[in-house]
Amino acid sequence: MLVIKNLSTHFPTERGLVKAVNNVSLSLATGEILGLVGESGCGKSMTLLSILRLIPFPGKIVGGEVFFRGSNLLEKKPAEMRALRGQDIAMVFQDPMTTLNPVFKVGEQIGESLRIHGAMGKESFRRRYGDNKKIAEKERVLELMKEVGIPSVDERYHEYPHQFSGGMQQRALIAIALSCNPQLLLADEPTTALDVTIQAQILSLLEQINREHGTGIILVTHDLGVAAEFCQRIAVMYAGSLVEVGPTDVVIGEPRHPYTIGLLRSIPKISSKKEKIKPIYGNVPDLAGLAGGCPFAPRCEVVKDACYSEDIPMRQISDDHQVRCLNVPGHSV
Ligand SMILES: Nc1ncnc2c1ncn2[C@@H]1O[C@H](COP(=O)(O)OP(=O)(O)O)[C@@H](O)[C@H]1O
Ligand SMILES: [Mg+2]
Repeated sequence: MLVIKNLSTHFPTERGLVKAVNNVSLSLATGEILGLVGESGCGKSMTLLSILRLIPFPGKIVGGEVFFRGSNLLEKKPAEMRALRGQDIAMVFQDPMTTLNPVFKVGEQIGESLRIHGAMGKESFRRRYGDNKKIAEKERVLELMKEVGIPSVDERYHEYPHQFSGGMQQRALIAIALSCNPQLLLADEPTTALDVTIQAQILSLLEQINREHGTGIILVTHDLGVAAEFCQRIAVMYAGSLVEVGPTDVVIGEPRHPYTIGLLRSIPKISSKKEKIKPIYGNVPDLAGLAGGCPFAPRCEVVKDACYSEDIPMRQISDDHQVRCLNVPGHSV
């Protein structure tokens, strides 16, 4: 459904060029949930925003292709992109309060999304909800609110965002995202602002949506544990580049990139009980003017001289497992 090839998005800054997305190639099958994982600042959000072509100034997509159902989004006209956003591809952000409008009732905001994207003009919509636009719209909004697990929808419809808890706000945003039955849902750390129990509920909701509607989901998270639990495949990103991509059981069970191994060791939940939890020493590098070579080299336990100088290609080490590391042999892709 989605095939990203050599996508690069750069930010010119005073400190140097920031390659926020550096030659990223990634694909998503229909109905798949893919986790995009990495520490803060490694380019996850910019990857998602590049797909929708919503990169903030002065950033720019400087190369690559983004095929969605066969056509390259980077070649589409702005009007075509506008039609696609929210309708075929929807996005859910980390902080629901910045996306919901505080002065409008939640129910009205979900209804507005139906109107903007023309969902109600469709024949199938009219057949199901009737010809009276106002009644049909409200009916559909209440249905969406129920589907995302908002209780007492008749009252909640009339409430304002601040009357909703963080978890309920995120559910409302997911209802907006779902209002047009998107085929692809881009979820950017949708649960980071929520506490752990609510986080699990929202992730189960995304899973349920995936199961019931076959919606493809890219779940961006800094938490490899979350990705391990909810995603079929995992892509690990570091300093703008993908370093390891594979099925979840392989990436978690037989990780090959030292960064993935480091991330796993730093998670209490899934690292083995015998092994001590161990942080990765050092920090994510400043992406401005990053030199060639492996960006993880300064933090790597198995670093060699060549790691600092060579541009390291992504290598295929089995059918569906790719790793970008000189210590891991395979054939270049
Ligand atoms: N407006 C901007 N100006 C300059 N650099 C930016 C801007 N926005 C993002 N970046 C750069 O892009 C990198 C990736 O950002 P982002 O995709 O938001 O990371 P993540 O979502 O993984 O935390 C950041 O490290 C930062 O250096
Ligand atoms: Mg982000």
